[in-house]
Amino acid sequence: MPVIAIDGPAASGKGTLARKLASHLDYAHLDTGALYRAVGLAVLHAGGDPACESDALAAVPKLAQMDLDSEDLRNESTGKAASEVAAHNGLRQALLEFQRNFAAMPPQGQAGAVLDGRDIGTVICPDADIKIFVIADVETRAQRRFDELSAKGESLPDYATILSQLKERDHRDQNRSTAPLKQADDAYLLDTTNSDIEAVFESALTLVKKKLGL
Ligand code: DC
Repeated sequence: MPVIAIDGPAASGKGTLARKLASHLDYAHLDTGALYRAVGLAVLHAGGDPACESDALAAVPKLAQMDLDSEDLRNESTGKAASEVAAHNGLRQALLEFQRNFAAMPPQGQAGAVLDGRDIGTVICPDADIKIFVIADVETRAQRRFDELSAKGESLPDYATILSQLKERDHRDQNRSTAPLKQADDAYLLDTTNSDIEAVFESALTLVKKKLGL
């Protein structure tokens, strides 16, 4: 069962790339950030503290009832809570098996799986057939996030606020002791700073086809 692991920092374009690859190849796609976002949101709704591991663990049983595609998961306060709950080793262990099972047995019986997150190539699927690490300058990522929020017509934090939130999130995700964001030794590095999504998709697809012999 081919597995494609895509990791990278917030707003690097990894989610869009993962969705496009999965749709093109007719593979299943799992946005693993949505799992952490759902836990973060459930903790906030329960009036808990995302920095408290037992509050995060108490939210795990609620995951099955949550809509992982909900727009509520996409806002910045949920992203911050997600990044905080994601630092707890116990929570990461609790979510590990679901992610590995998804990769091994995609839910709709598809012929392969694409997972995107922070630790897919390093921890969740270290034997993935293809690993891609997507990066972009933090200023470019902040501008993309700003444009995305403007397009949705959301009440907007200014660019400087978004930039500092992204830097804070990068720092937390890269420096936590458990499964920090880092490029796997055998991951292909894709810098999207100066490329649009079509160009990024084309280079990733070329790599996938070569590796899978398609
Ligand atoms: O990719 P995202 O922005 O939706 O992820 C939200 C947070 O979840 C991110 O700041 C770190 C955490 N996360 C993680 O630790 N491991 C993953 N595999 C995916 C996300």
